[in-house]
Amino acid sequence: MKALILSGGKGTRLRPLTYTGAKQLVPVMNKPILWYGIENIVASGVTDIGIIISPETGDEIRALTGNGERFGARISYILQESPAGLAHAVKTAQPFLGESPFLMYLGDNLIQDQLHTFIEKFKQNHLDALILLKHVNNPTAFGVAKLDSQGRILQLVEKPKEPPSNLALVGIYFFSPQIHQAISAIRPSQRGELEITDAIQQLIHHSQSVEACELLGWWLDTGKKDDLLEANRILLDTSLFASALCFENSKSHITGRVKVGEDTQIIQSTIRGPVVIGENCRIENCFIGPYSSIGDNVTLVNAEIDHSVVLEGATIENIDCRIVDSVVGRRAHLIAMPKRPKALRFMIGDDCQIELT
Ligand code: DAU
Repeated sequence: MKALILSGGKGTRLRPLTYTGAKQLVPVMNKPILWYGIENIVASGVTDIGIIISPETGDEIRALTGNGERFGARISYILQESPAGLAHAVKTAQPFLGESPFLMYLGDNLIQDQLHTFIEKFKQNHLDALILLKHVNNPTAFGVAKLDSQGRILQLVEKPKEPPSNLALVGIYFFSPQIHQAISAIRPSQRGELEITDAIQQLIHHSQSVEACELLGWWLDTGKKDDLLEANRILLDTSLFASALCFENSKSHITGRVKVGEDTQIIQSTIRGPVVIGENCRIENCFIGPYSSIGDNVTLVNAEIDHSVVLEGATIENIDCRIVDSVVGRRAHLIAMPKRPKALRFMIGDDCQIELT
C-alpha cells in the first residue's frame, strides 16, 4: 500500500498567511499540519509516500519536510502544475501510484483516529474505495454522503446547496487502482475541478465495492482561522506533555502544562498552560494564557495573549489589552505605544508591520 498526500492547491481561505507560504505548513502546536498526517500514515505501516505539491509552495514543502528520513518513510514529490481538483491530483500521481492500492490524505486535514483500523477494513473487505464520514453542522462546505438505513452509500455530492444529510466526507480515502478508470470517466465540475467525490460516485454507479466508515474521534479541516485555533486548542489539550522547566532569576509564574524550547528567556511573566513556546524566544513582562502556541524566535514584551497562535519570528510589544483568538503571521510586528486600545482581534499575515501609536 502507498500513500498520496495532497499539498498543492491555493490555500485561499487562510490568506494572508498563505500569500507567502503553504497552508499545509502552518503550524499547529508549533508543528506543521502536514507532518501530523505523515506521522499518522507512517504509524499505520505505510512508508512509501508521494506528496502532491504546487509550483508556488512546493519548494518550501520539500525543503522543510525532506526525503522522509526523519519520519522513517520514503517521500517522493509530485508536481501538479495547477490546482485542477483532487481527482486531477490522483491522475498526476499515476506514475507514482502504479497498480498499487493507496490511501489519499488531504494535507490540511487532522484526525484523532489512527489509520490502521481503516486500512484493515479496506483490505479485508476487498474494497475499491473506503471513505470516512463525520457529522458536521455546516455540510454545504464539504462533500456530503447520503446513506441508506443499513449504512450503504446511495449518493455523494460535492458542496451541495441543499445537502442530503449532514455527513461530511473527511479528507482521507482508501482506493484500489480501479479509481484511475473512474477518474478517466469524469468531467470537471461546475467549479472547474476534477472532483474525487464524482470519481467515487462513478465507482458506486458501476456497482463497485465502496463502503463508508464513521470517524469516532475529532476531525479538523484547518482551512480557516477559527479551524486553526480549534486544532491548536484540541492538540494542546490532548497531546502536550510538559518538558522540564528551568528558569533562572526569572520571577515568573508558570502553571499547568507548559513546554518551552531551548534558549528561550522568560522574565517576570505569568504563563498558564496548556501553552507551547518555541526556541530562542524572549518573553518579558507578559501573560500567556491557555491554548497558545508561540513559535521560535518570537519576542513578546509587555503583552497579554490568550488562545492564540504566534508564528516564527513575530514581535509583539506594549499592547495594552489582551490579544485573544488571534493568529499572528511570521515576522509580523505588532508594536504599540503604551495605554491605548481596549479590544483587539487579529488575523495578521506574514511580514505585516502594525504600529498602534
Ligand atoms: O476536507 C474535507 C473536504 O476536502 C471534503 O469534504 C471534500 O469533499 C473535498 O473536495 C475537499 O474539499 P476542500 O474544498 O476542503 O478541498 P481543498 O481545495 O481545500 O483541497 C484539499 C487539499 O488538497 C489541500 O491540502 C490542497 C490540496 N489540493 C487541492 C486541489 C484542488 C491539491 O493538492 N490539488 C488540487 O488540485
